[in-house]
Amino acid sequence: MTNEVLKLDNITKNFGSVQALRGVSFSVNAGEVVALLGDNGAGKSTLIKAISGVYPISGGQIVIGGKPVSVRRPRDAMELGIETIHQDSSLALDLSIARNLFLGREPVTAKWMGIFAPLDMRELRRQATDLLKRVGISKKLNADATISALSGGERQSISISRAMQFFAKIIILDEPTNNLGVEETNGVLRFIKEVRAAGHSLIYITHNIHHVFQVADRAIIMRQGTVVADIKIAESDILTVESIITGADLHELADQSGPVH
Ligand SMILES: Nc1ncnc2c1ncn2[C@@H]1O[C@H](COP(=O)(O)OP(=O)(O)OP(=O)(O)O)[C@@H](O)[C@H]1O
Ligand SMILES: [Mg+2]
Repeated sequence: MTNEVLKLDNITKNFGSVQALRGVSFSVNAGEVVALLGDNGAGKSTLIKAISGVYPISGGQIVIGGKPVSVRRPRDAMELGIETIHQDSSLALDLSIARNLFLGREPVTAKWMGIFAPLDMRELRRQATDLLKRVGISKKLNADATISALSGGERQSISISRAMQFFAKIIILDEPTNNLGVEETNGVLRFIKEVRAAGHSLIYITHNIHHVFQVADRAIIMRQGTVVADIKIAESDILTVESIITGADLHELADQSGPVH
């Protein structure tokens, strides 16, 4: 029996005469962290945008939980349990960190009042601080601060914290640790492990090969719009993965940096 949550079957994407994706196929299982690797322009972000409904695909099929699905808008993807964190995630700039973390699902004091129920600010602040602690940014950021006062990296941490709250079935992170400091980066890596432990799946795009070996179960390597390798991390090593990403001859690399094991 397979516990496949997402299957991509021969996905293609053309931008005019540019073939950004030339038939991408792979699957992601429940509780699996799949690193999506490849040099600049390999097609990683295009693939993620196709899965998350930013661009419609030109051909092929997206299958979720065994059923072919149509993902035409970001909303379709969210309803199918896919949460994507782009570097420039939309946050409400004028609202506090705490409000952004729970936007649309804030705790209220009198539920019976429906949409008119006042927000339970104390509970909101408590939950927000708790969440920030888990991502490792509680020391630096006060849950009451507004988003517009934060740096790019700090804003990124807030988007990631928000995804932890939504806890989607499939979480996609497109280069989430760019611009982040050491503590925040460790928070993201911890978050990835937590999500996996809870049985959810992750697709993690990064250029940091060391992070891949810390948290990923598998690596899908793309080159020029196609998948060139699907590797179990436990059975591979950094040098091999790097050589496949760049397309370099493994023996040439070995000559430069010692023997390959
Ligand atoms: N909107 C677009 N219009 C035309 N071409 C595009 C568009 N988006 C991407 N491309 C092309 O598709 C190819 C893949 O780009 P993509 O952004 O998916 O690469 P990537 O693997 O994410 O690279 P990076 O590691 O630099 O982020 C590139 O050749 C790019 O120029
Ligand atoms: Mg990209």
